[in-house]
This record gives sequence, structure tokens and C-alpha cells, in this order.
Amino acid sequence: MTAKDPADLIVYGGTVVNATGSTPATVVVSAGRIQSLLDADLPLPDNARVIDASGSLVIPGGVDPHCHIGQRLGEYAALDDYEQASRAALWGGTTTVIDFAIPDPGQSPLDAVIERRALARTSRCDTALHGCVITWDDRTAGQIEQMVALGVRTIKLFTTYRDVVMAGPDTILEVLRALHQRGGLGYVHAEANHVIEDAQELALAAHRGGSRDIGETRPEIAESAAVAQVLATAEHLGAPVYFVHQTTAEAVDLVRTARRRGVRAYTETCPHYLTLDESVYAGDHPERFVCCPPIRNAHSVTQLRSRAVLGDVDALGSDHCCYSTTQKLEHHDDVTRMPNGLPGVETRLPVAFTQLVERGGMSLERFVAMFATNPARLNGLPLKGSITPGADADLVVLDPARRRTATSSHLHMATDYTPYEGRELTGWPSMVISGGRVVLDEDGFHDPGPVGRALHSSALPNRLLT
Ligand code: URP
Ligand code: ZN
Ligand code: ZN
Repeated sequence: MTAKDPADLIVYGGTVVNATGSTPATVVVSAGRIQSLLDADLPLPDNARVIDASGSLVIPGGVDPHCHIGQRLGEYAALDDYEQASRAALWGGTTTVIDFAIPDPGQSPLDAVIERRALARTSRCDTALHGCVITWDDRTAGQIEQMVALGVRTIKLFTTYRDVVMAGPDTILEVLRALHQRGGLGYVHAEANHVIEDAQELALAAHRGGSRDIGETRPEIAESAAVAQVLATAEHLGAPVYFVHQTTAEAVDLVRTARRRGVRAYTETCPHYLTLDESVYAGDHPERFVCCPPIRNAHSVTQLRSRAVLGDVDALGSDHCCYSTTQKLEHHDDVTRMPNGLPGVETRLPVAFTQLVERGGMSLERFVAMFATNPARLNGLPLKGSITPGADADLVVLDPARRRTATSSHLHMATDYTPYEGRELTGWPSMVISGGRVVLDEDGFHDPGPVGRALHSSALPNRLLT
């Protein structure tokens, strides 16, 4: 694409919002990329499809840094595949999904990456991958080297789920070091397993180990303890680290305090931790809300939200997992056997927009940073997450005054429920453009076919990125 190439799409009349600022502008798209941003009052170029975004915001297509697509973990497999998950993502204004290659028992981390890459060929939007290491052995450094050659530079490490995916502190140290040497980043699920197992045992012995009791079995202190331990490892190594799905202000504050000491640590949270509170476990369907860490009490939710509004949370991940109510119910009386996780790739934008921008007063720029710009940056995807000349033409048009009620029958994720059933939300996209293709407009969804590219992550520079 050059400045001379003919424009094929023009989005005019809207306010373009980037993490760095907002301005009324016309976005000119050519060959799948953003060719230019023109002053709103300049005449429109000829011979292109013209989209009127008057009165709406034009934001970068979302980058969801945390999706489990058709995940197999323990006894259960999530119900979607890349085609379904990517369609749902696009319906919800997310144009890049980042999935996890979690090895099956006996499978190597590298083989898990190769398998996921093949599955991703049916994706309707661009994709990227995180690897996952469970045990460090004498082949792991070589495997990480090969993953990096395949464009995978982020690796998930779980401090919990013993005998399934849990990595010990020595493994975490070695992986953080290996990634640091290769411009990568460790993605850590931080919950102290010894605290959780003890709490689970006590709860089950007292007949309180079901989905209603998930909060008791995974206390907040388990999260803080694991975050502190991993931060110490990262600080010792001088390595960067990213904490997935943080749920408490205390965990976020640990990261911020470490940053003040020079540790390059990052925080992600999810729409459900900003929106729902533990009362969901006292309702009719507690099993539908079982996730790890669990949904916290109302005070913790308010505190977390205020940290996010202040800018202390770097990224917004959906932690999307498509299990059905039937799967969730099967072992609902024993949280150690249930499938964890909530569907959310499609609702990440409206749920978080409603909570953070509409109700919380967060600036649009800060929202865009969490929703798209920071996840792109932290995953080495320089052409994603901003509306700037040369970037991929991934755009979302939304009218912040338009409200819609969330209901699973109007959503497209491969499950029978949404955690947000009946909620009035704003921030739903009215138009989505992915790689220069209009995939959602007033006429509905236009399936682009399996055009999603498997993106390679670039080396991260040795400095703070958010
Ligand atoms: O409950 C959750 N979050 N399930 C998905 C796997 C994980 O821990 O991220
Ligand atoms: Zn996790
Ligand atoms: Zn997850």
C-alpha cells in the first residue's frame, strides 16, 4: 500500500479514538491497511465505498489477549472452534484473538503450538498464540527457541491446577529467563496452589465445595501470594512479566508497586471481574459463573474498577471459555472437577465499555488502550491496536448512546448462556471492519471466509511498554 494506491473504503464523520487522543477525522483504507487520516472537513476521495460514521466513535478493532478456543483442560473440552470463536469475536468488535496452546498430557509445548496453528486456519479474523510450559526439562530451551521462530513469544505459566498444567517456581524462573533473552513475555495465572488446595479440602469436608462456594475455595489472599512470589522472580531476573485475569486491587497494587521499583510488570483484568460480584453464586445458576479466580465480593469489584479507571490496569482480556450449562452442571457440587471459565469474546467490548466508560467515567483513550492498543503492544503486534497510517484496517464504529439488552439468543458464542443475560449495555459495534473488509454493518454479518492470518509476534523492546 502506498499513498498513491486507490482508496477502497472511507469512513467519515466519526470521532477517531486512539490511545493517544481523539479527533474528528476521515479514515482512508486501501488494500487492507489504513492509508491516511484526513481532516474531517477535506473532500472525500473518489471511487471508494463510503461509510457514514456521523455521531459515532471509530475505535481500533479489539485485540483480545486471552481466549481459550475449543480448549481441552482436564476432563472437559470447550465447545467452540476457531470459526465460531472468530465470528463471535467480530460480532463483538474484536478483530484479533490470541489463544493458548496448552499441551495435552504427554504433548510437548512445541507440538501444542503446531496443532493450534493448524486449527486456526478456519479463523475469520487474525490470530496469535501464547505457548504454555508446564515442566522445565533439558528440551524446553530448544522448544522455546523453535516457538519463537514460529512467532510465539508469550508463554502461559499456571501457578495452580496441580497435575494438569501447574508449573513450579523453578520452571517459572527458567521460562521467564528464556523469554527475556528472546524478547518475549511470561503470562502468569497467579493463584497460590497450596492455599487453594487447603481451602478446597476444608470446604469439601464441610460439604461446601460446590459452585456456590467457589469464592471460599479460592480466596483473594491466594492471588496476592502468588503475584508477590512471581514478581520477586521477575525482579531477580530483570525479566518482564504479565499477570492474566487479576481480580483484586491488592494484586493490581502489587504490580504497580513493583513497577515503581523498575520491574516491567503488567496487569490484565476481564469484564466479569469489573461487572459481576459474588452474589451470582447465590443465584439460580451459580455453576455458570465458576471461573478461576472466582468473581469477588462487591467491595473488591468496586476497588478493582477504580484501579482500572485510574489507569492501573494495562489490558482487558475476555478469558473466553465456551462451556455449556450442561457441562458446568455435571460436577457442580465439586469445584475441583468442574470446567472453569466464562464465555466472553463477543461481549468484552460492550460489558467493559458500559462499566468503565459509561458508569466509571474512564476516558475513551484509556479504554482503547486497554481494549486494543496495549494488548497489541504487549504481544509484539505493531500493526494492530491503533488507527494510524500503515496499520491494519481493523476498525469498529460504535454509537455510545445506543443501548441493547444482552441475551444469549442474540449472541454467537457456542454456548447456551451469557453471564450478562438481561443487562442493558452500550458500546455494541454498529460496524466492524477487519483487514479492510466490512464484516458487520446494518445488514448483518458478512462472513469473510477463513481469511484470518496467524500473526507472528515481534521481539519486545527492553523497556516499559504501557
Ligand atoms: O476459569 C478460568 N479462568 N478458566 C480458563 C483457564 C484459565 O485459568 O485461564
Ligand atoms: Zn488462568
Ligand atoms: Zn484463561
